[in-house]
Amino acid sequence: MLVIFKSLEFKEGKLFLIDQRKLPGEKEYFLCHTYQDVEYAIARMVVRGAPAIGATAAYGLYLAAKEFQKHAKRDFFLKMREASYILLKSRPTAVNLAWALKRMERIMEEEQDKDLPEIVKRLKEEADKIAREDIEINRSIGRYGRELVAEGAVILTHCNTGGLATVGYGTALGVIRAAYERDKKIHVYANETRPWLQGARLTAFELREEGIPVTVIIDSVAATLIRDGKIDLIIVGADRIASNGDTANKIGTFMLSELAKNYHVPFYVAAPVSTIDFELDNGSEIEIEERAPEEVTHIQGIQIVPDGVDVYNPAFDLTPHENIDGIITEKGIIRAPYKEGLASLKQI
Ligand code: MRU
Repeated sequence: MLVIFKSLEFKEGKLFLIDQRKLPGEKEYFLCHTYQDVEYAIARMVVRGAPAIGATAAYGLYLAAKEFQKHAKRDFFLKMREASYILLKSRPTAVNLAWALKRMERIMEEEQDKDLPEIVKRLKEEADKIAREDIEINRSIGRYGRELVAEGAVILTHCNTGGLATVGYGTALGVIRAAYERDKKIHVYANETRPWLQGARLTAFELREEGIPVTVIIDSVAATLIRDGKIDLIIVGADRIASNGDTANKIGTFMLSELAKNYHVPFYVAAPVSTIDFELDNGSEIEIEERAPEEVTHIQGIQIVPDGVDVYNPAFDLTPHENIDGIITEKGIIRAPYKEGLASLKQI
């Protein structure tokens, strides 16, 4: 049976997030009552994945609006601007966060002459819309992408791009799901994805729940499989795509793309149009998040690196557009030249 994993749900006046730090061992919910709870949840990886953190931040701004509606209108807008900035800063690389907050801010601007309860109501509607649309968008990505998946294909993926990384269904994992729904016999290799192990913990969990055959490998096995001709297709997600197609995604993606190029394995990125940052000419302008050394020095509380040793822990890397065979969006598959192809998406 196909299960739609939903990373988040707004009910009973609060935001319920599946606590992704605890999966697959425990299925626990992290409750957000305030926008500060939301900021914490995004920064600390309770929720992660570009589309999921976008929708989460939108609900964060709605929670702020609910709290601030007791203030005078001028103070309300000042406090909302502050809350939006705090949410924006929770993680720097995935542009979906800024995109979702911009959508919410646009509503505030359009409705600024209305009474505060009306503005708050409109903000809730917009956050719900962002969340609802995300699942539809992912299904559409899946429909376009599954055409690339041949019967019997062995697919390699990195990080987690499934229902947990989105509001539901997934992007790269959505393509895999969509192919499987069409009864295509496929096999997935999931990179474990150090240091947060999104592949081993989350991708393997989602695929196993649905009965899609999956083998987890440590990240460094990928090169051997690719060289030995064991991989037919690589599909990954994205956190931010520049106008020229350069793509920031989970650390390790660039290495896979180089291997793919070297051994002529098709390499695709699956992402919604909201992940494209049309303000950036190329990827060099994308801020790559660096995370705490403890994520590398410790595994589940056990120290594995000697005291006092330096650690470099970037959460993402940049894949140049030359390494990408196509970008699968909800509006179709875009291929080189990316500048023109991606720009055309703005018009559709
Ligand atoms: O640090 P994370 O787990 O938020 O990183 C997630 C990724 O890199 C995903 O590949 C990307 O956000 C796309 S999710 C549909």
